[in-house]
Amino acid sequence: MSQHIKTAVVNGVATIEIARPEKKNALTQAMYTAMAEAIAGAVEAREVRALLITGQPGIFTSGNDIEDFVQRPPQGDDSPVYRFMRALLECDKPVVAAVTGAAIGIGTTMLLHCDFVYVADDARLAMPFVGLALVPEYASSLLVPRLMGQRKAAEKLLLGDPFTGAEAVDCGIANAVLPAAEVLPHARRVAERFNALPPGAVRDAKALMHAPHREQILQVIAAEGEIFTRRLRSPEAMEAFQAFFQKRAPDYGKF
Ligand code: COA
Repeated sequence: MSQHIKTAVVNGVATIEIARPEKKNALTQAMYTAMAEAIAGAVEAREVRALLITGQPGIFTSGNDIEDFVQRPPQGDDSPVYRFMRALLECDKPVVAAVTGAAIGIGTTMLLHCDFVYVADDARLAMPFVGLALVPEYASSLLVPRLMGQRKAAEKLLLGDPFTGAEAVDCGIANAVLPAAEVLPHARRVAERFNALPPGAVRDAKALMHAPHREQILQVIAAEGEIFTRRLRSPEAMEAFQAFFQKRAPDYGKF
C-alpha cells in the first residue's frame, strides 16, 4: 500500500483518494499498485456499490511521476501502470470521478474510463504527451477523436492544449462542471444513488455498454504502450525529461 493513496468505504461507496499534494499528486508505481489493489478490493466487496476517484482540493493529478518514470520505466503488461489501467477498465461497478484543479496526462485519460465525471470550474485538463516526446496512452488516441472529433482531438493530443472543465463537458469527457467545493459532495451523491439500484442489473448494463468497444480498446492500449515504451528511451524524451527537471522549456530544434 502507498501512503499517498487513501481508501475508505462509506455508505456503499469505495473512495480512492490521491493524496500527494506536495508533488501535485504525481503518480508513482507504488501509487498505481495501490490504486489497482483498491479497485480490485472494491470489486470484490459485496457492500461496495460504486467507486469514487478523487484528488486533493485544487489538484486531481499531474499524471505520471516523471522522475519515477525515468528511473523505472514501465516494463510490459505487468507493470503497475498497466495493472491500474486494467483494473479500472475491468471494474464492473460504476466509477465516479471528482476532479478539481489540474488533471494532466493519465489524470485526463483515466477519466475516459470512468462512468461519471464531475469537474470543477477551476479544472484544467491536458494530455501533453507529444510535448514530452511521448504518445497518447490509455486508448486516448482512439477515444478522444471518437468523443470530440478529429479537429478538436488534434488540438488536445498533438498540440497538448489544456482545456477547462466547461470544455470537458462540451466535448463529452465530463458530465457537469460545478463550483470546486461542490464537486466531491455531488460526485459522492451520484455514487450513493447506486445503493438504491439492483447491483446485478447495474453490472450487466455496464458490461453491455462496454462490450462493443472492449477488444478494440485493449488492442489500442497495447499498440500505444509499445510505442510509448520505445519513445521513453528516445533522445527526444531524454531532452523532455531533462528540461522538466531543469525547469526549462525543452529544445527540440536539434532533432
Ligand atoms: N512528476 C514529478 N514531479 C512533479 C510532477 C510530475 N508529473 N508534477 C509536478 N511535480 C512536482 C514538481 O517538480 C515540483 O517539485 P519540487 O517542489 O520538488 O520542485 C512540485 O511537484 C510542485 O510542482 P510545480 O510545477 O511547482 O507546481 P505548479 O502549481 O506550478 O504546476 C502543474 C502544477 C501540475 C501544472 C505542473 O507541475 C506540471 O505541469 N507538471 C507536469 C505535468 C506533466 O507533464 N505530466 C505528464 C506526465 S506523462
